[in-house]
Amino acid sequence: MTTTTGTSAVTRAAGTAHTRIEGREKVTGTARYAGEIPFAGLAHGWLVLSTIARGRIRAVEADPVLAMPGVLTVLHHGNAPRVDGDYTGMLGRPDPTLLVFQHDRVPSAGWPVALVVAETSEQAREAAEALVVRYDQEPHDVAFFAGRPGTYTPESSLGEPCETEKGDLQAELAASAVVVDAEYTTPEEHHSAMEPHAATAHWDGGRLEVVDSNQGSMWVAEELAKLFSLDPSSVRVRSEHVGGAFGAKGVRPHQVCAVMAATLLHRPVRVVLTRRQTFSLVGYRSPTAQRVRLGADADGRLRAFDHQAQSLTSTVHEFVERSADPGRVMYAADAHHTVNRLVKLDVPTPTFMRAPGEAPGSFALESALDELAEKCGLDPIALRARNEPDAGPVSGLPFSSRNLLACFQEGAHRFGWADRDPRPGIRREGRWLLGTGTAAASFPSRAVPSTAAVTAEADGTFTVRITAADVGTGARTALTLIAAEALEVEPARIRMKIADSDFGPAMIAGGSMGTRSWGWAVAAAVGELREQLALGGDIPPQGITARSDTGAAIGALANKERHSFGAQFAEVAVDVTSGEVRVRRMLGMFAAGRIINPLTARSQFIGGMIWGLSMALHEEAVRDQASGSHVGADLAGYHFAANADVPLIEADWVDDPDPDDPVGIKGIGEIGIVGAAAAIANAVWHATGVRHRDLPIRPDRVL
Ligand code: MOS
Repeated sequence: MTTTTGTSAVTRAAGTAHTRIEGREKVTGTARYAGEIPFAGLAHGWLVLSTIARGRIRAVEADPVLAMPGVLTVLHHGNAPRVDGDYTGMLGRPDPTLLVFQHDRVPSAGWPVALVVAETSEQAREAAEALVVRYDQEPHDVAFFAGRPGTYTPESSLGEPCETEKGDLQAELAASAVVVDAEYTTPEEHHSAMEPHAATAHWDGGRLEVVDSNQGSMWVAEELAKLFSLDPSSVRVRSEHVGGAFGAKGVRPHQVCAVMAATLLHRPVRVVLTRRQTFSLVGYRSPTAQRVRLGADADGRLRAFDHQAQSLTSTVHEFVERSADPGRVMYAADAHHTVNRLVKLDVPTPTFMRAPGEAPGSFALESALDELAEKCGLDPIALRARNEPDAGPVSGLPFSSRNLLACFQEGAHRFGWADRDPRPGIRREGRWLLGTGTAAASFPSRAVPSTAAVTAEADGTFTVRITAADVGTGARTALTLIAAEALEVEPARIRMKIADSDFGPAMIAGGSMGTRSWGWAVAAAVGELREQLALGGDIPPQGITARSDTGAAIGALANKERHSFGAQFAEVAVDVTSGEVRVRRMLGMFAAGRIINPLTARSQFIGGMIWGLSMALHEEAVRDQASGSHVGADLAGYHFAANADVPLIEADWVDDPDPDDPVGIKGIGEIGIVGAAAAIANAVWHATGVRHRDLPIRPDRVL
């Protein structure tokens, strides 16, 4: 049979709402997650984590536990296989937090010290709880505060400088008619994906196979191959369905020790993390202490811009929460300074968490802008319009597109901003003080070279294979729509196969770059396929396959400032008797590239905005100074926004196709959270006349 593309009925599959193609599987329970897939002879590993925050393991008393029912082995630093600690991973350096059971040092509370493997999960858990580990404890230090001794400025992180400097800051501040100089803090915050981390490792015909829950199966496969000195082609990682991931589902200790145990026991071994374990084992958002100084002329034009941010990392690995970065894109000034400082403490290593840097950084920056607007007697939107840069404020590069003001204009119109009385503390309904606030949002728009294969099947369908990850975003569906549009066929004719490292290198679901990078690769592979099909001829039984690699195309992109932008609006009511803040409505208007699936895109934006609400009012991980570990490391102790806290939230977008992307995408995964907390904090000021510079805005802080 000859397959043709180009049925005239279908022109633009992308851009129209489409329910998730795996939605039925998910709601009927037939979609299996990593911890649910059955294996013959499966053994279960249970991790034992350190109870001290610093010191050495003196003894792991395994013998009594090995005599318990069903226990197969106890892995620890004294008997675990050695791994290669000098490998270079995806992020360009080894990750010492993956060197599980390789030494006796304990660098933080919740560090993995043993894995108990048993016939059943219950037996493993009982034995793990019975395992006695003896330590030589050393004094620890987990106290994070602004200006801590030992604070330093790393040269760079992820290829970006940690400090940028232009002009004479002191001179411009001195020459400014209006100055804002304010300090802000955000607490330690955690991603708690609905599905905790889980991995099953087994050897199959000489190949290591890992069934996992991750943001990038190729990433996990490559790092495991390096750690265990295996040929990359002999490692396969799959991650078909993922119940949420926000930066923490990469390579983590549980996959490493599952591989160790499967190798030693010659049978499949599954390690599932408990909710509590995820609080210390998979990374989190560092607390931040930030100082923002803005100097402006009386009309609000910025002369001086200074954003100094401090975050923490562990003693074993360096991670920088780059909170000072948003101003490098948002606001120009004659003198401009940004710096991301770091202090090393005896804590687990923080990591990427939705909009790393931008989320806490935009809280401080966009709150400070609101304070400046108040001091200048300017509308907050007018102040931002006055400071729109012509080019990157630090880089000097042109913007590929910058539709921030379009977001503010359309958002202000829909929100009813024009009716706002700028005076704070004057709207009241019974015991509620009412206020509205706004903030700007931005997020980098990048793409990473990826590969995809598209097969024209003899039955008239098309199979797409790409190592993409659908972490709940709807990526699988978006890629189906992109393929359908490129092929000019109905989406029902596309079979989308993702999340298998055997499909080849591709970007992870991260940095708001997943669907953007994969969509580019899928569109390119379809282009190749259509050229082959245009030659005519029958489709053989095995189909005709075309592959793409977008490396050259992405490498050839001209150097520009590429970002998504947005405007956040919030209305709050503050209870004058209890100090409770209720968000009444939120609106987010975004310029974030072409929107492929309006249904799931709206969910992405709203999900980010809800997280911003949660960040503004609820979330705060409390670390006990005496023990060095968390108080309430679970979803009872760690407060977050529940349904009753979430009001009417609207998200929409302005037309903003990326001029250089073949599909027009910019990426929408993270910008929804950016600026949301500041819009709420600014609304609380408008309601009460009091600035809240420390998150979360708890009732005891409001009263
Ligand atoms: Mo994310 S913090 O881009 O996984």
